[in-house]
Amino acid sequence: MPDPVTYTQHGSIGVAVIDHPPVNALSHAVRAGLAEALERCAADARTGALLIVCRGRTFCAGADVREFGRPMQPPLLGELVARIETCAKPVIAAIHGTALGGGLEIALACHFRVAVPEARLGLPEVKLGIIPGAGGTQRLPRLVGARLALSMIAEGRELGAPEALRQGLLDELMEGPDLELAATAFAERVLREGRPVRRTSELPARLDEPQVFDEFRAMLARKQRGFIAPLEAVQAVRMAYELPFEDALRREHEMCVALLHGPQSRAQRHAFAAEREVARIPGLTPETSQREVRRAAVIGSGVMGRGIAMCFANAGIPVALVGHTSGSAGEALAAIAGSYAAQVRRGSLSQDEAARRSALIAESHADEELHEADLVVEAVSEDLALKQAVFARLDRVCRPGAILVSNTSFLDLNELARVTTRPADVAGMHFFNPANLMRLVENVRNASTAPEVIATLMALGKRLGKVPVLVGAGEGFVANRLLSRRSREALFMLEEGATPAQVDQVLVEFGFPLGPFAVADLGGLDVVLATRRARRARLTEREQAADLLEQLTAAGRLGQKTRAGWYRYDDERRAQADPWVDELIARHSAARGIARRQIGAQEILERCLYAMINEGARLIGEGIVPRPHEIDVIWLHGFGFPAWRGGPMFYADQVGLPAIYQALTKYCDQVGAEYFQPAPLLEQLAREGRGFYSV
Ligand code: COA
Repeated sequence: MPDPVTYTQHGSIGVAVIDHPPVNALSHAVRAGLAEALERCAADARTGALLIVCRGRTFCAGADVREFGRPMQPPLLGELVARIETCAKPVIAAIHGTALGGGLEIALACHFRVAVPEARLGLPEVKLGIIPGAGGTQRLPRLVGARLALSMIAEGRELGAPEALRQGLLDELMEGPDLELAATAFAERVLREGRPVRRTSELPARLDEPQVFDEFRAMLARKQRGFIAPLEAVQAVRMAYELPFEDALRREHEMCVALLHGPQSRAQRHAFAAEREVARIPGLTPETSQREVRRAAVIGSGVMGRGIAMCFANAGIPVALVGHTSGSAGEALAAIAGSYAAQVRRGSLSQDEAARRSALIAESHADEELHEADLVVEAVSEDLALKQAVFARLDRVCRPGAILVSNTSFLDLNELARVTTRPADVAGMHFFNPANLMRLVENVRNASTAPEVIATLMALGKRLGKVPVLVGAGEGFVANRLLSRRSREALFMLEEGATPAQVDQVLVEFGFPLGPFAVADLGGLDVVLATRRARRARLTEREQAADLLEQLTAAGRLGQKTRAGWYRYDDERRAQADPWVDELIARHSAARGIARRQIGAQEILERCLYAMINEGARLIGEGIVPRPHEIDVIWLHGFGFPAWRGGPMFYADQVGLPAIYQALTKYCDQVGAEYFQPAPLLEQLAREGRGFYSV
């Protein structure tokens, strides 16, 4: 491999160029190369200043995550950062792309920082369950103050270069096509003007708002419940004001290392790696050709159709929204305009951008619009016959080569492909509600989907700003298949003696943002009931008889929208347990002859989670997904599985498959083998003492 750092001399400026694709991560070779560049700069009397600049798509995007958990070879990042800062000659960082984590820590230790206007800067370590470990928590507050530093370090907020300039994190923005040239001119100016080196660690740490730490702690306890690293980050920033710099630096590093070896960081790093792993599709290569998606169409202008149309418009792709029934799309356009207007009011979107996006969505009923589209998303209601009729129409009117996708959440895609003459062009894109906000999209292949269609949909998912995950066709794909197993157990446990609040509390304590019953109330019990009805043929007798949802909706309780569902809601939409519901459930149990008993937290957790994990094992066994990564990423992004637990399959490995196998056999006896029969893969791995990720 060529040297990742080269050193050249431009007049009086030494230039260290980092070229270490894909993201110039600070692996050992890069650290060693930079250290050598510093030495050469210091030793050469002709050199007045050192410029650090990167090739490729970005400045350094951080420490090399592949080195985490292995013995680190010197120079460590902290040592390198110290050498940069103590260098007697000015050192200048020239930033493009993203300066993240260790990359920004390097830049913070430089005496000057310049960037292109599009650059972004951040310390996102908390997202990997750690805090910066090379002085970031000590230098950043000295430049931008405690409040902004806390937001960047404890919440992982990134700054765009113009704001970074305003906040004192950058010295200048560099215009023009050649950053290296512009930054060299800047360095020459520094020398000409005799500007002294400015060491960030020597700047005073002044605290204007001593209460800011308590404020952040309280906010993080609410918004990042369960995560350890953000609270450690607050503590680390506080040290900048309470400890001598060197002591705080040592302590910061110790805290970082302790977090790195802890279970949360392991899980969060797994989540980061899994998200990237699922982009590598077995059988596809970067050379697999893709089709161009220049225009899209969405059929069905209900809630999902609108959200999906917005996804395309947000990504700059013109989209025709084709109402399934005449007249319905007009309403949809008004609703979309309203949604953009709300974003403008909240300050998350500019007026111009809202107008630009709205203009990309056109209403239509015409087959011509469909003929123009490179990709059509069907988003009509979950009714196989209806969807088949739409696919037959698409087959007639769409141009050859157009990709026809369904947003179905559980129907068999092969049944839709079957009614067309082009099953190779048919696939699924299962968006989650609200589609314009939720990042997960399950891309579904049917038995004959063409590889280039799959490659196109994976790339399109990224272009839409989503996390696309490829799954095979089969009941409920991955997301809803596992969900249905969890919902089933939650419902059974109500019949056996639990209350909705008890079940929800256990799952919230585990780390989910909401429990299953609160989620159902939020989405609407009529919506949940419609899905249940559509799945009726697949329900066992006991599941059909567990008709509590039917009873609640018959009483007009549709969830939050009617202020009553599994819970009762006050004016602020705060949920309260409702004795009326408890009585309804008790009567139901009695009528069904099910003896009620106390159900402990452990049983609630195990039955909900192990039913999901067992189903996950079955999905791998059935080939719906090739490996556990897909399942973890889908649950992390689709249903708020706590990131610090890494996803259901990673969590299963931490518990240990033998223990899960034992519990499953216990519940086989207690609840029924049809629900808890261990999946063959799980049984085999448990017997071999292995985990899902050891395969
Ligand atoms: N160390 C090692 N490899 C890294 C890396 C890091 N810090 N950051 C990214 N990569 C790798 C990815 O694993 C991926 O590899 P792959 O192509 O083999 O899957 C590749 O770089 C591209 O990353 P990806 O995230 O797919 O590209 P992107 O353009 O969407 O995003 C970043 C680029 C840098 C914004 C994003 O990767 C990121 O946020 N990285 C982590 C930054 C971080 O947390 N730094 C602090 C670490 S202490």
